[in-house]
Amino acid sequence: MSRLVVVSNRVAVPGEARAGGLAVGLEAALGTRGGLWFGWSGKVVREDSGRLHEQAEGEVRYVTMDLDRPDHDAYYNGFANRTLWPLLHSRLDLVDYARETRAGYRRVNALFADRLAPLLRDSDEVWIHDYHLIPLAALLRERGIGCRIGFFLHVPMPSADLLGALPEHGRLFGTLYAYDLVGFQTTRDADRFRTYARIYGGATVTPDGTVKLPGGGTVAVGAFPIGIDAARIAEQSAAAVGKPAVRALRESLSGRQLAIGVDRLDYSKGLPERFRAFGRYIERHPAERGRLTFLQIAPVSRGDVAEYQHLRDQLEGLAGHINGTHAEPDWTPLRYVNRNFAHATLTGFYRMASLALVTPLRDGMNLVAKEYVAAQDPENPGALVLSMLAGAAAELDAALLVNPYDLDGVADAIARASTMPLSERRERWESMMRPITGYDIHVWCRRFLERLAEVAG
Ligand code: G6P
Repeated sequence: MSRLVVVSNRVAVPGEARAGGLAVGLEAALGTRGGLWFGWSGKVVREDSGRLHEQAEGEVRYVTMDLDRPDHDAYYNGFANRTLWPLLHSRLDLVDYARETRAGYRRVNALFADRLAPLLRDSDEVWIHDYHLIPLAALLRERGIGCRIGFFLHVPMPSADLLGALPEHGRLFGTLYAYDLVGFQTTRDADRFRTYARIYGGATVTPDGTVKLPGGGTVAVGAFPIGIDAARIAEQSAAAVGKPAVRALRESLSGRQLAIGVDRLDYSKGLPERFRAFGRYIERHPAERGRLTFLQIAPVSRGDVAEYQHLRDQLEGLAGHINGTHAEPDWTPLRYVNRNFAHATLTGFYRMASLALVTPLRDGMNLVAKEYVAAQDPENPGALVLSMLAGAAAELDAALLVNPYDLDGVADAIARASTMPLSERRERWESMMRPITGYDIHVWCRRFLERLAEVAG
């Protein structure tokens, strides 16, 4: 079996806090066949010496590189997170059109290629992840690398109209044609990419969904909805209910129900809308007043980017307003927490919550939705309120699906979730667990890699 090489912006280096579910799945795949995980070290240095950091655990080598401040600003804070992130999440209003950051993005991708190419063997299979590294295969090909290369986009693929709005979009998205396989979260994302390739690449699409380019090249395209380590989360959450942090939360509720939200502090997550919808729930359902406390955990993310700082200010204002308007001396309806928690602790919080609010305005998949479901007590599961605009909605159609902008709709879904009879909760939970356990993170990895081996064979 050929060696697997994973490339991603962030690397879950052993010994550091794990990056969550994706790391578990990739490590399992890397561990069974031996491999290399390459990416950014997470460090911004004054001057980049070009030295790589390397460590090994079992059969897996972890190789990372630093970035200097200008590269990091242009590539990560700039083009990846101020241009591509909003564009791919259908937020043309937030896209930064600066030309310099685009050059920096290309420069850093070329650095990745320069440093990775000498480590590669012809028999390797390379799996590149996410929007930070779209041009990497094309740049590796320019450096004479002929091995199989697959790409997986963790975030949504918007319509061709939106992609086409990015200046010189063809120079960027056209580099996706250098891959042997391009994978997306949902069939709709995959279809939107095929449409883009038809409209702007002059491609045709074969009956099995492969993109055929005018020059004769082909790109296999598929949907591989990312999963979680469902068995592990079920175990963790059952054990976590005894943890001090989980017990303290339970005691603090004084018998009230808990609604939970856990998201990176990101404008794609729909947090202001969610806060407003929660306020609307209190107003529209006066009989329920005081029965439910909403805990929103939102660790600060990409704090150097202006839009994220603005969002933080906005949420602080809204949280104060909602509590100021609705709180009682003995009840704070909304608890808003910016700190992060150990993953195991979160699973305990999930299990305790009667409902979860997962209402992004747009999301590639959303693994919190899946983790919340997997963490439930099968005898007494909670209810999930899920945005129809999250990739997870395609599989979790037994959730209470909402349009996150429709505040009355979300408010009513909160009321319905918090009063849902046990039989209905169990039925919905069982139905959601089927895809969650049947297509977990390990199956996801296997399916992608099997397909990659097949297409380039
Ligand atoms: C999303 C992206 C990931 C990214 C993560 C955290 O899930 O798809 O590629 O790693 O957000 O964001 P950060 O900017 O902290 O890596």
